[in-house]
Amino acid sequence: MNFTFPKDFLWGAACSAYQIEGAWNEGGKGMSTHDHYARLPEYAHYYKAGRPDTCSDFYHHYKEDVDIMVEHGLKSFRFSISWPRLFPDNVKDINQEAVEYYNDLFSYCCEKGLVLFVDLFHWDMPQWVLELGGPVNKEFIDWFEAYAKACYENFGDKVAYWSTMNEPNFSIFSGYYQTDGDGAGIFPPFENDKTKAFTASHYMNLAHMRAVKLYREMGFSGKIGAVIDLFPIYPYSLSDEKDVEAAKRRFDYYAGKWIGPLLLGEYPESVVECYSEYFPEGFQEEIRNAYVEIDYIGDNYYQQRYAKYSPEKPYFDLCDNPEQTVSDKNDEMGGIFVDIQNYPQGLYDIVMLLHREYHAKEIVITENGLPLPRDKENPAVPSKIQDEERIRYMRGHISALARAIDVGVPVTGYYVWSIEDTYEHGLGFDYDFGLIAVNYETMERTPRESFRWYADLIRFVSGQKET
Ligand code: NOJ
Repeated sequence: MNFTFPKDFLWGAACSAYQIEGAWNEGGKGMSTHDHYARLPEYAHYYKAGRPDTCSDFYHHYKEDVDIMVEHGLKSFRFSISWPRLFPDNVKDINQEAVEYYNDLFSYCCEKGLVLFVDLFHWDMPQWVLELGGPVNKEFIDWFEAYAKACYENFGDKVAYWSTMNEPNFSIFSGYYQTDGDGAGIFPPFENDKTKAFTASHYMNLAHMRAVKLYREMGFSGKIGAVIDLFPIYPYSLSDEKDVEAAKRRFDYYAGKWIGPLLLGEYPESVVECYSEYFPEGFQEEIRNAYVEIDYIGDNYYQQRYAKYSPEKPYFDLCDNPEQTVSDKNDEMGGIFVDIQNYPQGLYDIVMLLHREYHAKEIVITENGLPLPRDKENPAVPSKIQDEERIRYMRGHISALARAIDVGVPVTGYYVWSIEDTYEHGLGFDYDFGLIAVNYETMERTPRESFRWYADLIRFVSGQKET
Protein backbone atom coordinates (compact mmCIF):
# COMPACT_ATOMS: atom_id res chain seq x y z
CA MET A 1 0.00 0.00 0.00
CA ASN A 2 1.15 3.56 -0.73
CA PHE A 3 0.91 6.03 2.12
CA THR A 4 0.39 8.86 -0.34
CA PHE A 5 -2.20 11.58 -0.45
CA PRO A 6 -3.23 13.90 -3.29
CA LYS A 7 -1.10 17.05 -3.54
CA ASP A 8 -3.96 19.40 -2.62
CA PHE A 9 -5.29 17.18 0.15
CA LEU A 10 -7.06 19.32 2.76
CA TRP A 11 -5.21 18.63 6.00
CA GLY A 12 -7.37 20.52 8.42
CA ALA A 13 -8.99 20.95 11.77
CA ALA A 14 -12.55 21.95 12.49
CA CYS A 15 -14.81 23.68 14.95
CA SER A 16 -18.10 25.55 15.13
CA ALA A 17 -19.08 29.03 16.28
CA TYR A 18 -21.47 27.58 18.87
CA GLN A 19 -18.67 25.62 20.51
CA ILE A 20 -15.74 28.05 20.66
CA GLU A 21 -16.78 31.54 19.65
CA GLY A 22 -18.27 32.70 22.95
CA ALA A 23 -19.20 36.42 23.00
CA TRP A 24 -22.79 35.24 23.18
CA ASN A 25 -24.17 38.73 23.79
CA GLU A 26 -21.48 40.87 22.18
CA GLY A 27 -21.11 42.38 18.73
CA GLY A 28 -24.85 42.65 18.20
CA LYS A 29 -25.41 38.89 18.31
CA GLY A 30 -28.98 37.71 18.86
CA MET A 31 -30.13 34.80 21.00
CA SER A 32 -29.59 31.34 19.61
CA THR A 33 -31.97 28.55 20.58
CA HIS A 34 -29.22 27.22 22.87
CA ASP A 35 -28.70 30.61 24.54
CA HIS A 36 -32.41 30.59 25.24
CA TYR A 37 -32.90 27.02 26.49
CA ALA A 38 -29.66 26.85 28.48
CA ARG A 39 -31.12 29.62 30.65
CA LEU A 40 -34.30 27.73 31.47
CA PRO A 41 -33.84 25.60 34.61
CA GLU A 42 -35.94 22.72 33.25
CA TYR A 43 -33.55 22.30 30.31
CA ALA A 44 -30.29 23.06 32.13
CA HIS A 45 -29.34 19.37 32.36
CA TYR A 46 -28.91 19.28 28.57
CA TYR A 47 -26.23 21.91 28.94
CA LYS A 48 -24.39 20.46 31.92
CA ALA A 49 -22.72 22.87 34.29
CA GLY A 50 -21.40 25.32 31.75
CA ARG A 51 -23.29 27.30 29.15
CA PRO A 52 -21.61 28.06 25.84
CA ASP A 53 -21.43 31.76 26.73
CA THR A 54 -17.68 32.26 26.57
CA CYS A 55 -16.12 28.91 25.66
CA SER A 56 -12.50 29.38 24.52
CA ASP A 57 -13.39 32.96 23.52
CA PHE A 58 -12.32 32.42 19.93
CA TYR A 59 -14.23 35.62 19.11
CA HIS A 60 -11.46 37.65 20.73
CA HIS A 61 -8.58 35.19 20.30
CA TYR A 62 -8.94 34.21 16.67
CA LYS A 63 -5.67 35.77 15.48
CA GLU A 64 -3.66 33.89 18.08
CA ASP A 65 -5.44 30.65 17.19
CA VAL A 66 -5.03 31.08 13.44
CA ASP A 67 -1.32 31.79 13.98
CA ILE A 68 -0.95 28.50 15.88
CA MET A 69 -2.74 26.66 13.04
CA VAL A 70 -0.38 28.13 10.48
CA GLU A 71 2.73 27.41 12.59
CA HIS A 72 1.63 23.77 12.61
CA GLY A 73 1.31 23.62 8.84
CA LEU A 74 -2.47 23.26 8.70
CA LYS A 75 -3.78 23.66 5.17
CA SER A 76 -7.41 24.28 5.92
CA PHE A 77 -9.73 25.46 8.69
CA ARG A 78 -13.38 24.40 8.97
CA PHE A 79 -15.56 26.79 10.93
CA SER A 80 -19.17 27.94 11.00
CA ILE A 81 -20.98 31.24 10.81
CA SER A 82 -23.35 31.89 13.66
CA TRP A 83 -26.75 32.54 12.06
CA PRO A 84 -28.03 34.47 15.14
CA ARG A 85 -24.92 36.66 15.02
CA LEU A 86 -25.56 37.57 11.39
CA PHE A 87 -29.35 37.88 11.66
CA PRO A 88 -30.08 38.60 15.34
CA ASP A 89 -33.74 39.55 15.11
CA ASN A 90 -35.37 38.68 11.83
CA VAL A 91 -34.82 37.55 8.27
CA LYS A 92 -33.94 40.91 6.75
CA ASP A 93 -31.86 43.05 9.13
CA ILE A 94 -28.26 41.98 8.85
CA ASN A 95 -25.88 42.81 11.69
CA GLN A 96 -23.03 44.82 10.14
CA GLU A 97 -20.76 44.20 13.09
CA ALA A 98 -21.01 40.47 12.41
CA VAL A 99 -20.29 41.02 8.72
CA GLU A 100 -17.15 42.88 9.72
CA TYR A 101 -16.15 40.26 12.27
CA TYR A 102 -16.44 37.33 9.86
CA ASN A 103 -14.77 39.34 7.11
CA ASP A 104 -11.82 40.06 9.39
CA LEU A 105 -11.59 36.44 10.51
CA PHE A 106 -11.87 35.00 7.00
CA SER A 107 -9.49 37.57 5.52
CA TYR A 108 -6.95 36.76 8.20
CA CYS A 109 -7.22 33.04 7.41
CA CYS A 110 -6.84 33.68 3.67
CA GLU A 111 -3.87 36.00 4.14
CA LYS A 112 -2.20 33.22 6.11
CA GLY A 113 -2.89 30.76 3.32
CA LEU A 114 -5.60 28.65 4.98
CA VAL A 115 -8.26 27.17 2.71
CA LEU A 116 -11.61 28.07 4.25
CA PHE A 117 -14.33 25.48 4.73
CA VAL A 118 -17.42 27.17 6.16
CA ASP A 119 -20.63 25.69 7.54
CA LEU A 120 -23.78 27.77 7.25
CA PHE A 121 -25.61 25.90 9.98
CA HIS A 122 -23.66 24.09 12.64
CA TRP A 123 -26.08 23.81 15.53
CA ASP A 124 -26.93 27.41 16.45
CA MET A 125 -30.28 28.49 15.05
CA PRO A 126 -31.65 31.94 15.89
CA GLN A 127 -34.30 31.84 18.58
CA TRP A 128 -36.54 34.02 16.35
CA VAL A 129 -36.51 31.23 13.73
CA LEU A 130 -37.70 28.72 16.29
CA GLU A 131 -40.37 31.07 17.58
CA LEU A 132 -41.76 31.34 14.07
CA GLY A 133 -42.08 27.56 13.92
CA GLY A 134 -38.47 26.62 13.15
CA PRO A 135 -37.81 23.96 10.54
CA VAL A 136 -41.33 22.59 10.94
CA ASN A 137 -42.62 25.71 9.22
CA LYS A 138 -42.10 25.46 5.45
CA GLU A 139 -41.08 29.13 5.36
CA PHE A 140 -37.87 27.93 7.01
CA ILE A 141 -36.65 27.21 3.47
CA ASP A 142 -36.99 30.92 2.57
CA TRP A 143 -35.35 32.13 5.77
CA PHE A 144 -32.44 29.76 5.23
CA GLU A 145 -32.07 30.86 1.64
CA ALA A 146 -31.97 34.54 2.67
CA TYR A 147 -29.30 33.74 5.25
CA ALA A 148 -27.27 31.73 2.72
CA LYS A 149 -27.52 34.55 0.19
CA ALA A 150 -26.14 37.08 2.68
CA CYS A 151 -23.25 34.73 3.47
CA TYR A 152 -22.38 34.19 -0.20
CA GLU A 153 -22.62 37.92 -0.93
CA ASN A 154 -20.45 38.96 1.97
CA PHE A 155 -17.94 36.12 2.24
CA GLY A 156 -18.25 34.19 -1.02
CA ASP A 157 -14.98 35.44 -2.45
CA LYS A 158 -13.01 33.95 0.47
CA VAL A 159 -14.66 30.58 1.05
CA ALA A 160 -13.49 27.56 -0.94
CA TYR A 161 -15.92 25.00 0.52
CA TRP A 162 -19.42 25.69 1.84
CA SER A 163 -21.49 23.26 3.82
CA THR A 164 -25.19 23.94 4.15
CA MET A 165 -25.73 21.87 7.30
CA ASN A 166 -23.83 19.88 9.90
CA GLU A 167 -25.21 16.64 11.39
CA PRO A 168 -28.89 17.50 10.88
CA ASN A 169 -29.77 14.22 12.61
CA PHE A 170 -29.04 16.17 15.77
CA SER A 171 -29.60 19.83 14.98
CA ILE A 172 -32.89 19.23 13.15
CA PHE A 173 -34.34 15.74 13.67
CA SER A 174 -33.50 15.49 17.33
CA GLY A 175 -35.14 18.80 18.14
CA TYR A 176 -38.34 16.80 17.79
CA TYR A 177 -37.52 13.15 18.39
CA GLN A 178 -34.61 11.08 19.61
CA THR A 179 -32.34 10.32 16.70
CA ASP A 180 -31.49 6.86 17.79
CA GLY A 181 -34.26 5.63 20.01
CA ASP A 182 -37.70 6.49 21.31
CA GLY A 183 -38.44 9.67 23.19
CA ALA A 184 -37.88 13.39 23.26
CA GLY A 185 -35.15 14.98 21.21
CA ILE A 186 -31.98 16.35 22.74
CA PHE A 187 -31.86 19.68 20.89
CA PRO A 188 -34.19 22.68 21.16
CA PRO A 189 -37.16 22.61 21.31
CA PHE A 190 -36.76 19.13 22.92
CA GLU A 191 -40.07 17.78 21.63
CA ASN A 192 -41.33 14.24 21.20
CA ASP A 193 -43.15 14.14 17.90
CA LYS A 194 -42.13 11.90 15.01
CA THR A 195 -44.18 13.83 12.45
CA LYS A 196 -42.40 17.04 13.32
CA ALA A 197 -39.02 15.28 13.23
CA PHE A 198 -39.50 13.93 9.69
CA THR A 199 -41.18 17.13 8.48
CA ALA A 200 -38.35 19.30 9.80
CA SER A 201 -35.78 16.97 8.21
CA HIS A 202 -37.57 17.15 4.88
CA TYR A 203 -37.68 20.96 4.95
CA MET A 204 -34.00 21.03 5.88
CA ASN A 205 -33.24 18.88 2.83
CA LEU A 206 -35.23 21.30 0.65
CA ALA A 207 -33.54 24.31 2.28
CA HIS A 208 -30.18 22.72 1.51
CA MET A 209 -31.16 22.28 -2.14
CA ARG A 210 -32.35 25.87 -2.43
CA ALA A 211 -29.08 27.13 -0.95
CA VAL A 212 -26.99 24.99 -3.34
CA LYS A 213 -28.99 26.12 -6.36
CA LEU A 214 -28.63 29.76 -5.34
CA TYR A 215 -24.87 29.41 -4.88
CA ARG A 216 -24.51 28.09 -8.42
CA GLU A 217 -26.80 30.78 -9.83
CA MET A 218 -24.66 33.45 -8.19
CA GLY A 219 -21.72 32.19 -10.23
CA PHE A 220 -19.16 31.37 -7.53
CA SER A 221 -16.35 28.97 -8.29
CA GLY A 222 -16.11 27.34 -4.85
CA LYS A 223 -17.60 23.99 -3.86
CA ILE A 224 -20.77 23.33 -1.93
CA GLY A 225 -22.08 20.25 -0.14
CA ALA A 226 -23.27 19.11 3.27
CA VAL A 227 -21.87 17.37 6.35
CA ILE A 228 -23.58 14.28 7.78
CA ASP A 229 -22.55 11.87 10.53
CA LEU A 230 -22.03 8.75 8.46
CA PHE A 231 -20.80 5.41 9.77
CA PRO A 232 -21.30 1.78 8.81
CA ILE A 233 -24.07 -0.24 10.39
CA TYR A 234 -23.08 -3.89 10.19
CA PRO A 235 -25.49 -6.84 10.40
CA TYR A 236 -25.19 -8.75 13.68
CA SER A 237 -24.91 -11.92 11.68
CA LEU A 238 -23.92 -11.91 8.03
CA SER A 239 -25.53 -15.28 7.48
CA ASP A 240 -28.93 -14.15 8.72
CA GLU A 241 -30.78 -12.39 5.93
CA LYS A 242 -33.04 -10.65 8.42
CA ASP A 243 -30.07 -9.07 10.16
CA VAL A 244 -28.64 -8.00 6.82
CA GLU A 245 -31.96 -6.37 5.96
CA ALA A 246 -32.20 -4.82 9.44
CA ALA A 247 -28.77 -3.22 9.04
CA LYS A 248 -29.73 -1.81 5.67
CA ARG A 249 -32.98 -0.37 6.99
CA ARG A 250 -31.28 1.06 10.00
CA PHE A 251 -28.70 2.76 7.76
CA ASP A 252 -31.46 4.12 5.52
CA TYR A 253 -33.31 5.47 8.52
CA TYR A 254 -30.28 7.06 10.12
CA ALA A 255 -28.20 8.18 7.14
CA GLY A 256 -30.26 7.52 4.01
CA LYS A 257 -32.91 10.10 4.83
CA TRP A 258 -30.10 12.65 4.25
CA ILE A 259 -27.72 11.11 1.74
CA GLY A 260 -30.53 9.61 -0.34
CA PRO A 261 -31.84 13.10 -1.23
CA LEU A 262 -28.40 14.72 -1.21
CA LEU A 263 -26.56 12.24 -3.40
CA LEU A 264 -29.23 10.31 -5.30
CA GLY A 265 -32.11 12.79 -5.41
CA GLU A 266 -34.60 10.62 -3.55
CA TYR A 267 -35.43 9.05 -0.21
CA PRO A 268 -34.48 5.37 0.15
CA GLU A 269 -37.26 2.86 -0.53
CA SER A 270 -37.33 1.62 3.06
CA VAL A 271 -37.75 5.18 4.37
CA VAL A 272 -40.69 5.69 2.05
CA GLU A 273 -42.14 2.31 3.04
CA CYS A 274 -41.75 2.76 6.80
CA TYR A 275 -42.06 6.47 7.53
CA SER A 276 -44.23 8.05 4.79
CA GLU A 277 -46.99 8.79 7.28
CA TYR A 278 -44.68 11.19 9.16
CA PHE A 279 -43.64 13.22 6.11
CA PRO A 280 -45.62 16.00 4.42
CA GLU A 281 -47.62 14.83 1.43
CA GLY A 282 -45.75 14.53 -1.87
CA PHE A 283 -42.37 14.54 -0.13
CA GLN A 284 -40.60 12.20 -2.56
CA GLU A 285 -41.80 14.26 -5.52
CA GLU A 286 -40.66 17.49 -3.88
CA ILE A 287 -37.16 16.11 -3.44
CA ARG A 288 -37.00 14.80 -7.00
CA ASN A 289 -38.04 18.20 -8.34
CA ALA A 290 -35.72 20.24 -6.13
CA TYR A 291 -32.69 17.95 -6.42
CA VAL A 292 -29.43 19.59 -7.30
CA GLU A 293 -26.08 17.86 -7.37
CA ILE A 294 -23.51 18.66 -4.68
CA ASP A 295 -19.76 18.95 -5.17
CA TYR A 296 -18.73 16.83 -2.19
CA ILE A 297 -20.20 14.99 0.77
CA GLY A 298 -18.72 15.64 4.21
CA ASP A 299 -18.56 12.83 6.75
CA ASN A 300 -18.13 13.30 10.50
CA TYR A 301 -16.83 9.86 11.42
CA TYR A 302 -16.69 8.67 15.03
CA GLN A 303 -18.24 5.22 15.33
CA GLN A 304 -19.71 2.05 13.88
CA ARG A 305 -22.86 0.18 14.88
CA TYR A 306 -24.50 -3.22 14.58
CA ALA A 307 -28.11 -4.02 13.88
CA LYS A 308 -30.01 -7.17 14.73
CA TYR A 309 -33.47 -7.97 13.50
CA SER A 310 -36.10 -7.56 16.15
CA PRO A 311 -39.63 -8.85 15.57
CA GLU A 312 -41.10 -6.19 17.86
CA LYS A 313 -39.58 -3.26 16.06
CA PRO A 314 -38.73 -4.38 12.56
CA TYR A 315 -38.20 -0.85 11.23
CA PHE A 316 -37.42 1.47 14.05
CA ASP A 317 -34.96 1.30 16.88
CA LEU A 318 -33.29 -1.94 15.89
CA CYS A 319 -31.02 -2.87 18.74
CA ASP A 320 -27.29 -2.67 18.54
CA ASN A 321 -25.53 -5.72 19.78
CA PRO A 322 -23.49 -4.82 22.84
CA GLU A 323 -21.30 -7.91 22.67
CA GLN A 324 -20.06 -7.01 19.24
CA THR A 325 -19.52 -3.33 19.81
CA VAL A 326 -17.96 -3.51 23.21
CA SER A 327 -14.54 -4.63 22.02
CA ASP A 328 -14.34 -1.63 19.72
CA LYS A 329 -15.23 0.87 22.37
CA ASN A 330 -12.52 3.16 23.50
CA ASP A 331 -11.69 2.43 27.12
CA GLU A 332 -9.76 5.65 27.34
CA MET A 333 -13.07 7.46 27.39
CA GLY A 334 -14.19 5.52 30.42
CA GLY A 335 -17.22 4.18 28.59
CA ILE A 336 -18.97 7.53 28.85
CA PHE A 337 -18.74 8.45 25.22
CA VAL A 338 -20.51 5.36 23.99
CA ASP A 339 -20.93 6.96 20.60
CA ILE A 340 -17.27 7.60 19.97
CA GLN A 341 -15.15 4.58 19.22
CA ASN A 342 -11.68 3.96 17.95
CA TYR A 343 -12.61 1.90 14.89
CA PRO A 344 -10.61 2.97 11.79
CA GLN A 345 -11.90 0.09 9.65
CA GLY A 346 -15.35 1.68 9.85
CA LEU A 347 -13.98 4.80 8.20
CA TYR A 348 -12.60 2.71 5.36
CA ASP A 349 -15.92 0.90 4.99
CA ILE A 350 -18.08 4.03 4.99
CA VAL A 351 -16.04 5.93 2.40
CA MET A 352 -16.07 2.79 0.24
CA LEU A 353 -19.86 2.63 0.55
CA LEU A 354 -20.24 6.31 -0.35
CA HIS A 355 -18.03 5.75 -3.37
CA ARG A 356 -19.59 2.52 -4.62
CA GLU A 357 -23.25 2.83 -3.73
CA TYR A 358 -23.83 6.56 -3.58
CA HIS A 359 -21.37 7.50 -6.36
CA ALA A 360 -19.99 10.38 -4.29
CA LYS A 361 -17.59 12.23 -6.55
CA GLU A 362 -15.71 13.83 -3.68
CA ILE A 363 -15.63 12.84 -0.01
CA VAL A 364 -14.24 15.03 2.75
CA ILE A 365 -13.76 13.69 6.27
CA THR A 366 -15.04 16.79 7.99
CA GLU A 367 -14.59 15.49 11.55
CA ASN A 368 -12.74 12.77 13.39
CA GLY A 369 -11.30 13.08 16.86
CA LEU A 370 -10.92 11.77 20.37
CA PRO A 371 -12.24 13.34 23.59
CA LEU A 372 -10.23 13.04 26.80
CA PRO A 373 -11.62 13.96 30.23
CA ARG A 374 -10.78 17.07 32.22
CA ASP A 375 -10.00 16.79 35.89
CA LYS A 376 -13.36 17.32 37.61
CA GLU A 377 -11.64 19.06 40.54
CA ASN A 378 -9.96 21.60 38.26
CA PRO A 379 -12.35 22.15 35.38
CA ALA A 380 -10.52 25.24 34.04
CA VAL A 381 -7.32 23.26 33.52
CA PRO A 382 -7.08 21.38 30.23
CA SER A 383 -6.65 17.63 30.01
CA LYS A 384 -3.21 16.22 29.24
CA ILE A 385 -0.88 17.88 26.74
CA GLN A 386 1.01 14.60 26.07
CA ASP A 387 -2.02 12.97 24.46
CA GLU A 388 -0.60 9.73 23.03
CA GLU A 389 -4.11 8.21 22.87
CA ARG A 390 -5.18 10.93 20.44
CA ILE A 391 -2.10 10.34 18.29
CA ARG A 392 -2.89 6.61 18.12
CA TYR A 393 -6.49 7.43 17.24
CA MET A 394 -5.54 9.82 14.45
CA ARG A 395 -2.83 7.55 13.06
CA GLY A 396 -5.28 4.66 12.78
CA HIS A 397 -7.92 6.69 10.98
CA ILE A 398 -5.51 8.45 8.63
CA SER A 399 -4.00 5.07 7.69
CA ALA A 400 -7.48 3.75 6.91
CA LEU A 401 -7.99 6.72 4.59
CA ALA A 402 -4.65 6.09 2.89
CA ARG A 403 -5.81 2.54 2.14
CA ALA A 404 -9.09 3.81 0.71
CA ILE A 405 -7.39 6.46 -1.44
CA ASP A 406 -4.94 3.82 -2.64
CA VAL A 407 -7.78 1.81 -4.16
CA GLY A 408 -9.37 4.84 -5.79
CA VAL A 409 -11.85 6.28 -3.29
CA PRO A 410 -11.98 10.07 -3.92
CA VAL A 411 -11.25 11.38 -0.42
CA THR A 412 -9.88 14.92 -0.62
CA GLY A 413 -9.60 16.08 2.98
CA TYR A 414 -9.37 15.15 6.65
CA TYR A 415 -10.31 17.53 9.48
CA VAL A 416 -9.46 16.75 13.08
CA TRP A 417 -12.22 17.62 15.52
CA SER A 418 -11.37 19.94 17.02
CA ILE A 419 -8.87 22.70 16.54
CA GLU A 420 -9.10 23.61 20.24
CA ASP A 421 -10.94 22.60 23.38
CA THR A 422 -14.65 23.09 22.96
CA TYR A 423 -18.01 23.19 24.60
CA GLU A 424 -19.70 19.86 23.84
CA HIS A 425 -23.47 19.76 23.58
CA GLY A 426 -24.81 17.56 26.39
CA LEU A 427 -21.41 17.24 28.05
CA GLY A 428 -20.48 20.83 28.80
CA PHE A 429 -16.76 21.34 29.34
CA ASP A 430 -16.01 17.93 30.84
CA TYR A 431 -14.13 16.56 27.81
CA ASP A 432 -11.48 17.98 25.51
CA PHE A 433 -11.12 17.26 21.82
CA GLY A 434 -8.60 20.00 21.06
CA LEU A 435 -5.33 19.94 19.18
CA ILE A 436 -4.83 23.15 21.14
CA ALA A 437 -5.47 22.97 24.89
CA VAL A 438 -7.28 25.92 26.44
CA ASN A 439 -7.23 26.99 30.06
CA TYR A 440 -10.71 28.43 30.60
CA GLU A 441 -9.57 30.76 33.39
CA THR A 442 -6.51 32.34 31.80
CA MET A 443 -7.50 31.54 28.19
CA GLU A 444 -3.93 30.41 27.68
CA ARG A 445 -3.43 28.23 24.60
CA THR A 446 -1.02 25.27 24.51
CA PRO A 447 -0.63 23.06 21.43
CA ARG A 448 -0.91 19.40 22.41
CA GLU A 449 1.55 16.69 21.42
CA SER A 450 -1.02 15.43 18.89
CA PHE A 451 -0.79 18.77 17.07
CA ARG A 452 3.02 18.42 16.84
CA TRP A 453 2.55 14.89 15.52
CA TYR A 454 -0.06 16.10 12.99
CA ALA A 455 2.27 18.92 11.88
CA ASP A 456 5.05 16.38 11.23
CA LEU A 457 2.68 14.16 9.31
CA ILE A 458 1.45 17.05 7.14
CA ARG A 459 5.05 18.06 6.43
CA PHE A 460 5.97 14.46 5.58
CA VAL A 461 3.07 13.71 3.24
CA SER A 462 3.22 17.13 1.58
CA GLY A 463 6.85 16.51 0.68
CA GLN A 464 6.05 13.22 -1.04
CA LYS A 465 5.83 12.80 -4.76
CA GLU A 466 2.40 11.80 -6.04
CA THR A 467 2.27 8.34 -7.53
C1 NOJ B 1 -20.04 16.23 15.73
C2 NOJ B 1 -20.45 17.66 15.82
O1 NOJ B 1 -20.50 18.23 14.55
C3 NOJ B 1 -19.59 18.48 16.75
O2 NOJ B 1 -20.21 19.70 16.94
C4 NOJ B 1 -19.33 17.70 18.03
O3 NOJ B 1 -18.65 18.45 18.98
C5 NOJ B 1 -18.57 16.44 17.67
N1 NOJ B 1 -19.41 15.63 16.85
C6 NOJ B 1 -18.13 15.60 18.87
O4 NOJ B 1 -19.22 15.08 19.51
